[in-house]
Amino acid sequence: MRLSRVYFLLSLVLVFSATISSCSKANVPNKINIGFSQAMTNDEWRQSMNSSMELQASLYPHVNLTIYDANYDVQKQIADLNMFIVDSVDIIIVSPIQSKPITSTVEKALNAGIPVLVVDRKTDDQKYTTYVGADNIEIGRNAAKYIASNIQDSLSVLEIKGLAGSSPAEERSIGFHQVIDDFSEVQFVGTIKSNWEKESIADNFRQFLQDHGPIDFVFAHNDRLAQGAWEIAHNLGIEDKIKIIGVDGLSGSNGGIELVKNGVLTATILYPTGGAEALTTAMKILNGDKVPLHNILSSTVIDRFNADIMQNQFSKISEQQRLIESQVSAIKQQEKQYYSQNNTLKIILVFFLIILGLAVYSIYSKMSISKKNRQLEITNEKITVQRNQIEEIANEVKESNEAKMNFFTGLSHEFKTPITLIMSSIESLREKNKKEGYKNSFEIELIQNNSNRLLRLINNLLDFRKVEGQKFNIRASNTNIFKFTNNIFQEFKGEADKRSIKLEIKTNNEDLNLFIDRNLMDKVYFNLLSNAFKFTPDNGKIDIEIKDNLNKSNVYIHFKDNGIGIPDEELNNVFTPFFKGSNNRKNSSGVGLHLSKQFIELHLGKIEVQSYHGTEFIITLFKGNTHFNEDQIVVDPELIDTNLVEYTEETVYDDGLTESKESSNNEGYSILLIEDNRDLTLFLKNKLSQEYIILTSDGTNALELAFEHIPDVILCDVNLPDQNGYELCEILKTDLRTSHIPVILLTALGNKESFIKGLQCGSDLYLTKPFNYSILTQSIKSLLYNREKLRYYYTNNIHNIDQGHSFGDAEQSFVRELNHHIKTNLENAEFSVENLAELLNVSRVQLYRKVKAMLGMSISDYISDYRLEKAKSMLQTSNRSISEIAYCTGFSSPNYFSTSFKSKYGVTPGSYKKSL
Ligand code: FRU
Repeated sequence: MRLSRVYFLLSLVLVFSATISSCSKANVPNKINIGFSQAMTNDEWRQSMNSSMELQASLYPHVNLTIYDANYDVQKQIADLNMFIVDSVDIIIVSPIQSKPITSTVEKALNAGIPVLVVDRKTDDQKYTTYVGADNIEIGRNAAKYIASNIQDSLSVLEIKGLAGSSPAEERSIGFHQVIDDFSEVQFVGTIKSNWEKESIADNFRQFLQDHGPIDFVFAHNDRLAQGAWEIAHNLGIEDKIKIIGVDGLSGSNGGIELVKNGVLTATILYPTGGAEALTTAMKILNGDKVPLHNILSSTVIDRFNADIMQNQFSKISEQQRLIESQVSAIKQQEKQYYSQNNTLKIILVFFLIILGLAVYSIYSKMSISKKNRQLEITNEKITVQRNQIEEIANEVKESNEAKMNFFTGLSHEFKTPITLIMSSIESLREKNKKEGYKNSFEIELIQNNSNRLLRLINNLLDFRKVEGQKFNIRASNTNIFKFTNNIFQEFKGEADKRSIKLEIKTNNEDLNLFIDRNLMDKVYFNLLSNAFKFTPDNGKIDIEIKDNLNKSNVYIHFKDNGIGIPDEELNNVFTPFFKGSNNRKNSSGVGLHLSKQFIELHLGKIEVQSYHGTEFIITLFKGNTHFNEDQIVVDPELIDTNLVEYTEETVYDDGLTESKESSNNEGYSILLIEDNRDLTLFLKNKLSQEYIILTSDGTNALELAFEHIPDVILCDVNLPDQNGYELCEILKTDLRTSHIPVILLTALGNKESFIKGLQCGSDLYLTKPFNYSILTQSIKSLLYNREKLRYYYTNNIHNIDQGHSFGDAEQSFVRELNHHIKTNLENAEFSVENLAELLNVSRVQLYRKVKAMLGMSISDYISDYRLEKAKSMLQTSNRSISEIAYCTGFSSPNYFSTSFKSKYGVTPGSYKKSL
C-alpha cells in the first residue's frame, strides 16, 4: 500500500516536470542567428538600413539579429566578423567600410561554412555568397546621362567621389565616366576625394571654386556630399550657378528628396539601402533556396518633376512600415501573452491531472480500504467465533484439568491415611523389635524408607495444587541455617554411605540465623537433595555450602553434585512444572524443582541453576526479617541437632550389591536382574536368591554380565539410565550367545504401545509395576519349564531339527548351523570343539555355555552323540563294515567307536547290527 502510494506520487511529479519542460521548450523554438556587421551608423541612410533590416527580422519570430557597428573603423569591422565566426552564427551580413581589408575575413567565414551576404558595398574579389544592393555603375551612368541631358553648348562638370576603396565610390565613378567622357561638350574639371562625409570636401571644394569660379554641374556620390557642396557654394554666393546631383534619395526631412524639392539639389539618384531585402535573401539562403550572386535593387533619378511623387510613395511606404512595426510589436505582445497563457494553461492542466489523479487515487484508496475493512470484519468475525470456541475449549480443558487435579488431590489425600497407617505400623514394629532385642529386618527398613518417599511425593502433589491456588502463607521463624541444613543432611547420610557418595556441608558462619519457613525450606532441601542423589553416580560427590556474604544483606546456599548435569539449552526450563530433562531417564514427577522455586520466591529469595561437571543450584536468601510482613513472622523453638531418621548400627543395610554381584552359591538356575532402583533390586535379590543364583546389574554392565554368564533368565527394567530395557532385550535376543535366554521386562509403563514395543524387542514376558511377587516367581518358573521342554526336544530330535520346517526361531537356526558344521566334518576325526566355535564365530567357552544352556549337555558330548546317531542309522541302512562306519563318522579307531557306541546304546555296534 505504502509502495503504491510512493509510485503514484512519483508519477505525478514526472507528469508535472514533463509538462513544465514541454512548456519551456515551447518558449525556445530553434533560433536562427544572423550577424550583421554595419560599416557605421552615424548617417540616416545607414540608420534606415538598420531599421528596415530589424523590421524585416521581426517578421520572423525565431530570427535573432545581432548588429555590430564598426563605426568607420576597419579593424573593428574585422574583429566583429571574427566574433560572428566564433559564435557560429547561421549567416553573416556585412556592409564593408572598404572592400580590400575585409576580403580575407569574409573568405574565412565562408571556409567555416557560414554564408556571407554583402550589402551596399562589395569585397574585392567578389567572393561572397550573394550581394544585395543597387548597381552603382548604373547609378554613375544615370548621373552622367542626367547631366548630359542638360547640355546646350558646353558644360563644366566636377565629380565628388566617395571613399576610395569602397566599391560604391569606385563603381559610381566608373559608370559616370563611361557616359560623361563620351560627350565632347562636357568639360570634366576634376574629381574631389572624400570619405563620404561633407566635412571631408569643404576645404578642397571651396578652394576649387575660388580657383576656377562656378561650374555647371557637380556629381556628388551621395546626398550628404552634395548638400555640403551646395552649402560651400551658397557661402560663396554662387549656389544658383551650380547644379548639384547627389545619390541616396532618402525621404526624411533632411533627405535627398526634400533637398531636391528645396532646390538645393537638382536631382538625386535613389540608392535603396537594401536592409529588408538583405534579410529576406539571407532567410532564403538559410532555407536552402537558390539565390543569384547579385541581387540588384532598382534605382531611379529623382528631380523636381517626380520628387513629390517619390516622397509620397516613400511616406506611404514609411507609414506602412510603421504599421507593420506596430503590428509586429502587437503580434509579439500577443505572442508573449500566448506563451504565458499557454504555460499557465499547461500548469493548470498539470494540476488538473494531479487533482484528477489524486481524486482517482483517493477513490481507489477508499474502495480498497472499505474492501479491507470488510475483509477485516469477516476475519474479525471468524476470530471472534474462534476465540469463543477456544474459550469454550479452554474452559472445558480447565474444568477437566480442575476435575483431574481434584481427583489427584483427593486421591493423594486418600493415600495419606494408608501410608500413615503403614508408617505407624512399621514404627511400632521397629519399637517392638528394639524392645525385644531383635535387629530390624531389611524389609522393615525398606518399607519405612519407601513409605517416607511415597509420603513426600504425595505431599509434593498436594503442595503443587496449593501453590497453583496461591494458598501458601509463609511462616518465617528465626533459624540457625547450619543446624537446619545439618539435620536434613543426616536424613541422606544413610543413602550416601550406602552408595559411597561423599556428602559434605561447608559454611563460613555456623552461627548464621535466617528467617525461613522451616516446613517449606525442608521441602526445598529434600527436593534438591533427592534430585542430586538421583543423578549422582555411586562414589560421587554432593556438597552443600552456606556462604554468608559478610558485608552484604544476603546469603548463598549452594547444592552441588557431580552427576550427569543438565544440557545448557534446557537450564531455563528446569523450574517449569512437569519438565523432564532430555538426559533424565529416571522416573520423576517434574514438580519438585517448580515447587522449590515457588517456595524460595515466597521467601523473596531466588534460586538459580548452573551445570558444569554436574549440577549446581544456588539459593539466595535475605538476612534479617525486614522483608517479611509482621504476620509472616512466627516464633519456632530453637533447633537442636537431631537425626530425623534413625540410622543406627543395628540397621542391617548392607545390600551386598557393592562387592560381589553373585549373591549365592546356589547351584540351580541363574537369573540376571537388571534394575537401577536399588531398593527394588535388593528386595528381589533377597527374595529370589532363596531359589536362584542372582546376578545384578544397574544396566550399565548388563550386556557384559549376560554374555559372560549366560544366565537362565533375565529380569530387566525398562527405564534404565543408559540403554533402556527394550534396547537391551533386542541386543540379547539377536545375539547368538544369549538369544535363547527368556527375558522378562519390568516396567511402570502399562500402556498398549509399550506392551507392543516389549513384544517387538523379543521379550518373553512383560510385567507392569507394581507386580505381584508370586506372579513374577511363577512366570520365571514357567519360562524355565518351557526352556526345559525345548531343550528336551532339541536333544531328542537332533536330525529332525535339520529336516523339519524352519519356524524362524534363532535357536532352531543355531542348532541347524551347528549340525551342518558337524555333518560336513563327520569323517574328520580331528574336528574339535575349537574348530566348531571358530566356524560359528563364538568363543569355545561361549559355545560350551550356549550348548549347555540350550541342550543340557556339553558340546563335545553333543558332537559325539551326533556321530553315534549317524553311525547307528548307517548300521541300519547300509552294508558297510563296522570299521568303515567308524571312520566315516569320525571315530579315530573302530575300538573307540565300539566303546562309545556301547556306552550310549548298551550294545556293541556288531551286536546291534545283528539284532536288526
Ligand atoms: C552612407 C553612404 C551613402 C552612400 C553609400 C555608399 O553611409 O555614404 O550615402 O550612397 O554609403 O556606400
